[in-house]
Amino acid sequence: MQNDILEVLISEEDIREKVGELGTKLSAEYAGRNPLVICVLKGAFIFMADLVKTITVPIELDFMAVSSYGAATKSTGIVKIIKDLDVPVEGRDVLIVEDIIDSGLTLSYLIEMLNNRNAKSTRVVTLFDKPVGRTVDLQADYTGFILPDAFVVGYGLDFAEKYRNLPYVGVLKPEIYTT
Ligand code: XMP
Ligand code: MG
Repeated sequence: MQNDILEVLISEEDIREKVGELGTKLSAEYAGRNPLVICVLKGAFIFMADLVKTITVPIELDFMAVSSYGAATKSTGIVKIIKDLDVPVEGRDVLIVEDIIDSGLTLSYLIEMLNNRNAKSTRVVTLFDKPVGRTVDLQADYTGFILPDAFVVGYGLDFAEKYRNLPYVGVLKPEIYTT
């Protein structure tokens, strides 16, 4: 698995530090409130687990699974809900936890959906952002790292469902996805 990585972009240590910083900011933002923290599966599962441990206000959490990619490395623009939320969001302060924003299509779809369901507030925290890939006007409220326009794997991110369990984020060798 490590042999398929061309370059480590963000180390395990750097991720841990950044997640702690985000948790501190979110704890301040949500002081005195009880946000519903939504993990966008599957990619955000590790970030979600690490992040919520650094948040010091009471939260509830829920999971959503969406898909826009299949095994390809670019967004199709079609967002499919594979698993919807278990709880209603009406009147709730909602925090969406994303792994990575590229075109922004997935998130703009999710935000619109939550607004249609009358969430009280909707904020987004993403660990990674690739602003160069953006095709819709969208920004996260909290961002961990800005990445170049390369396909990355690890820390929850996959290529064809592999590499999610790498503890760091890296770039795959081109021969892995071109063959
Ligand atoms: P969009 O284009 O809708 O994409 O903003 C967001 C979703 O696409 C996936 N994505 C990636 N997954 N490596 C991955 O493993 C990447 O470099 C990458 N870029 C986008 C991801 O699931 C995200 O939620
Ligand atoms: Mg994915």
